[in-house]
Amino acid sequence: MAKIYLDHAATTPVDKKVLDAMLPYFSEKFGNAMSIHSFGKVAEEAIDEAREILAKFFHCQTSEIIFTSGATESNNLVLKGVVKSYWSKFNKKPHIITTAFEHHCVLDTCKSLEKENLAEVSYIKPDKEGIISVENIKKAIQPNTILVSIMYVNNEIGTLQPIQKIGDILKAKNQPGLPAGRKLKTKILFHTDATQAMNYFDCDVQKLGVDLLSLSGHKIYGPKGIGALYIKKGTPIKKIQDGGDQEFHMRAGTQNVPGIAGLAAAIQLVKNSKLKVQRILKLRNYLIEKVLREIPDAKLNGSKKFRSPNNANFTFKNVEGEGLLLSLDMEGIACSTGSACSIGSLESSHVLLSLGMKPEEAHGSLRVTLGKHTTRKEIDIFVKKLKKTISRLRKISGKVLQEFYSNK
Ligand SMILES: Cc1ncc(COP(=O)(O)O)c(C=O)c1O
Repeated sequence: MAKIYLDHAATTPVDKKVLDAMLPYFSEKFGNAMSIHSFGKVAEEAIDEAREILAKFFHCQTSEIIFTSGATESNNLVLKGVVKSYWSKFNKKPHIITTAFEHHCVLDTCKSLEKENLAEVSYIKPDKEGIISVENIKKAIQPNTILVSIMYVNNEIGTLQPIQKIGDILKAKNQPGLPAGRKLKTKILFHTDATQAMNYFDCDVQKLGVDLLSLSGHKIYGPKGIGALYIKKGTPIKKIQDGGDQEFHMRAGTQNVPGIAGLAAAIQLVKNSKLKVQRILKLRNYLIEKVLREIPDAKLNGSKKFRSPNNANFTFKNVEGEGLLLSLDMEGIACSTGSACSIGSLESSHVLLSLGMKPEEAHGSLRVTLGKHTTRKEIDIFVKKLKKTISRLRKISGKVLQEFYSNK
């Protein structure tokens, strides 16, 4: 049975060109970039070259890019590093604004900052369509707000956030002397987690108006375990990891040279593939229309218009997400669901709940994310198998689920 992979928001296969760019750095060019001999120089040159490629892509200086192990680390560094810097200067608790539907690496970091009494955090809810209101961000600003962290594209429902508009608002707030402004002790920094946006949306940091931007290699046909962080020159942030002077003293630890070379190669490919967005968008729209037309009681979650071109997220009434996922897997199809289920406890996706969905609705969700190799034939096979699976699951467990939720 040929397998069909429709989970590109989880991870993507490493592109052959990316792999080729990485291979020499595992073997003949294996040096440590911190060594001063020729082996080290070769590795250092590879990192310098990669940094230039990223700087061009993000429209910033090379000294503003640091390599990390992925978006989780980049996001941790942003939140903890900015808070640490504020404490070291002002010795008091700052306030952070983020959203209720960020990736767990942002939410859990915020929760741990709150738990340790190091920061107050406001979690802004999106509207029903999965979009954060610029006005709500503006309203949440407090005198001690030091950071606004909003994801560019949501990883579950694919909705696109108004990053540039939020950037404009913060720029205006940060202008000293504006009549409507307030006396600022410190600038409000703006961070975006662009992990799910990189393949399809403009990541020019000047246009976006961000001070910090996180990304990950494995979502863009690059390797796992590599990512980067853009840090605008002059941003007050402290390192959170000790043990070395790598990455402009911001990130201790031997650099992952093959990963860095791979990340740069992946970014080069993203640059060249922007033109192919229309193909994937057409295919994704074909999928959405087919599912909504052929499967009863199916609903698309999140805005159709402001959404990543590769993402479709559905809810199927009286179907349990995990069961659906496992049944599809047996049919050779890989998708994802936001819900985590264990016997006796049905936990729904925090993203879908943040849209105001009821747990029973959120529970039957399925995320389908297309990739650059996805074909129309694969979509046709997928919808056919999905239809069959849903009808079977509804027959088996539809009633049980209905009763379970009506007794809650
Ligand atoms: C929006 C978002 N942020 C962060 C991450 C974590 O990235 P990494 O796997 O590089 O740590 C992911 C991965 O799923 C993501 O989708």
